[in-house]
Amino acid sequence: MGIDRVRWGIVATGNISTSFTKDLAELPGQAVVTAVASRSLDNAHRFAELFGIEHRYDDYRRLIDDGHVDVLYIGTPHPQHYATARAALQAGIAVLCEKPVTLTARQARDLIAVAREHDTLFAEAMWMRTNPVVQAMFADLTEGVIGEPMEALADFGFHKPQLPARLLDPALGGGSLMDGGIYPMTFVHMALGKPDEVKAVGSVNEDGVDLNVAMAWRYDSGAVAALTCGLRSQNPWTASVSGPEGHLLLPNRFHHPEYYVRSTAAGEERIDVPTHGLGYHYEAAEVMRSLRAGQVECPALPHAATIEILELLDETRRQIGVSYPGDDEYLGG
Ligand SMILES: NC(=O)c1ccc[n+]([C@@H]2O[C@H](COP(=O)([O-])OP(=O)(O)OC[C@H]3O[C@@H](n4cnc5c(N)ncnc54)[C@H](OP(=O)(O)O)[C@@H]3O)[C@@H](O)[C@H]2O)c1
Repeated sequence: MGIDRVRWGIVATGNISTSFTKDLAELPGQAVVTAVASRSLDNAHRFAELFGIEHRYDDYRRLIDDGHVDVLYIGTPHPQHYATARAALQAGIAVLCEKPVTLTARQARDLIAVAREHDTLFAEAMWMRTNPVVQAMFADLTEGVIGEPMEALADFGFHKPQLPARLLDPALGGGSLMDGGIYPMTFVHMALGKPDEVKAVGSVNEDGVDLNVAMAWRYDSGAVAALTCGLRSQNPWTASVSGPEGHLLLPNRFHHPEYYVRSTAAGEERIDVPTHGLGYHYEAAEVMRSLRAGQVECPALPHAATIEILELLDETRRQIGVSYPGDDEYLGG
């Protein structure tokens, strides 16, 4: 695709859309935001003024139909991702969609099929995968500095006196698992692959929203992993993988770290990897690279992993008893 500057459209004007759009400024000359859509025209205008965006809409669908963008970034709550992503892909507009891309694996499989059918790029905005520190740590792992990885520990738990309402609302895909748990799951999936057995327990409140979850994954290779997430405690928020020769550790807020720790017989070493911006422009750059190469999938944000992790989320939710409106239609298959 002979694109000089990739034209981005932003759907929704909440927290993450704001951070993502701010970070596109780290890609001057490569990315331009040409359109924004909100449920409210006032919010679309406010967002557009903040970032100097030309086209503004009070309807997500109109942004898609107007044809001013090459790629759509979707930053709505999880249950609203699917319909907007599907409409954009059907219109031949590439999509970078926030995590989890859908509530169920079945919906994600459908989106990926639609993307392939329309020869249009689709990627999950799992920004951790494109973080340079995370990539450097996994390069070490691949080189075998700790030997064959046998155990992984990953935790994503935080507490705020005032949690955003979305996190506690089942109609908006609330709960710690879908919002935070997906990060430890992604880390362990990157480190050890898809598990052969999954066990999960969790506390679920009276509204059916999980407040914290503990998972154990087992592999036929003999590897195991422990994963936690939650909304009620200030956790270490770290992730590590270990083998017979040592371990590699991502520190607090492991999904966008500033350094990692390599611990081997040679000693413990802190390895700093320079990063800049908020960390979202790395995934945007990957998407633009793939778009220019005419790919339907970003190598750094692979479809198979998106589906496998949603399958694990489906199974974990089944075990802890968390369901969302529409599950009957979309679970299974
Ligand atoms: N990658 C990351 O670091 C990261 C961080 C946080 C969240 N996320 C993901 O990003 C998504 C959004 O999270 P957020 O924290 O940005 O949420 P947020 O601040 O609540 O923003 C979500 C936006 O979605 C739009 N929206 C559409 N339908 C809605 C509905 N029924 N109720 C409420 N809002 C609705 C609203 O924008 P308009 O009114 O303008 O339409 C709203 O401002 C989630 O899927 C989450 O998992 C990712």
